[in-house]
Amino acid sequence: MTSEKAVTGVPTVALRSGARIPAIGLGTFGSDRFSPQQVAEAVVGAAEVGYRHFDCASVYGNEKEIGEALQTVQATVAPREDLWITSKVWNDSHHRVIESCEQSLSDLRLDYLDLYLVHWPFPNFHPPHCDVTSRSPGAKPYIHDDYMKTWRTMEELVKRGLVKHIGTSNMTIPKLRLVMRDAEILPAANEMELHPHFQQPELFEFVKKNGMLPIGYSPVGSPKRPERDTTPDDTVDIEDPVIVRIAARLGIHPATLCVKWAVQRGQVPIPFSVTPRNYLANLQATVSPPLTDQDMRDIAAIDRNCRLIKGQVFLWKDNQTWEDLWDVNGTIPQ
Ligand SMILES: NC(=O)c1ccc[n+]([C@@H]2O[C@H](COP(=O)([O-])OP(=O)(O)OC[C@H]3O[C@@H](n4cnc5c(N)ncnc54)[C@H](OP(=O)(O)O)[C@@H]3O)[C@@H](O)[C@H]2O)c1
Repeated sequence: MTSEKAVTGVPTVALRSGARIPAIGLGTFGSDRFSPQQVAEAVVGAAEVGYRHFDCASVYGNEKEIGEALQTVQATVAPREDLWITSKVWNDSHHRVIESCEQSLSDLRLDYLDLYLVHWPFPNFHPPHCDVTSRSPGAKPYIHDDYMKTWRTMEELVKRGLVKHIGTSNMTIPKLRLVMRDAEILPAANEMELHPHFQQPELFEFVKKNGMLPIGYSPVGSPKRPERDTTPDDTVDIEDPVIVRIAARLGIHPATLCVKWAVQRGQVPIPFSVTPRNYLANLQATVSPPLTDQDMRDIAAIDRNCRLIKGQVFLWKDNQTWEDLWDVNGTIPQ
């Protein structure tokens, strides 16, 4: 049942196919903190207040519970065609994309996904919850031929009707250039870390200019991410004086302002929350009066190039730094 509090008029954004995706989604990575059941309850609660887009992944370990939740949502809130469900193939399954997608479909109790992403461009497996110093013994750099073998099976999913769109995640401009050169079906979206202290302006513009949708993860700056994903230099978006000042003027939480800014900038944020007050506020922020041009300029100016999800576990040789994963010199290190 859609709640009386349900937010209406949530904007949507067109993909290159013409399909429209809700301009905000609910993240579902409960990390070490929230049980699959808690996340599944948030999915139902969020749908009741008006969310129609859910960002899932097999590695989040909760697709079965979310599948139950989606059954409830379809029975009581909205039909399947009104929902947008994303999932992702994990790094240990680049060679078995079809099986992995079928497993996600079965767990989520769906006939098709709206969007299926290659979660990371590295096939380097590491156990869930491992420390950032953990390395996979067979770790490899990005090997484009291998990625394209994976991409061909992603394309096969579209041809078989199991997924409507395919996309990338955690990519860089050099890697995306190669994929765009060789793909038969171009990526519809690139999911990437985006928040006020990490705006990735160059990649953001590249993605948009090339007809892909930027989906922004950790839009609030992931304030409750696990200790293993923090370093001493990390900055905190929701404590930034500019964010705090504008949020106070609008009478909203700084986290909500981050989400509002993201939608207005043109990325699709997928904030995680299991707290009804917070996920409702984030949704309401998509329909409240826009930020001023001055607000947008002020927030553009606080970018700190502060990547939070550095991906150290994907490194493939000794004496590397996490920057090697992100092609910071414009080339793909081997
Ligand atoms: N593709 C990828 O590789 C990748 C990587 C990371 C994440 N993701 C996706 O992106 C999603 C979001 O990223 P994230 O979970 O890292 O970080 P996030 O959405 O930036 O931060 C989530 C945290 O912010 C708090 N929060 C959210 N809205 C709030 C509000 N209005 N007021 C106060 N606090 C608020 C939540 O706490 P409460 O629960 O208490 O509200 C939650 O702990 C994930 O769940 C996942 O779906 C994808």
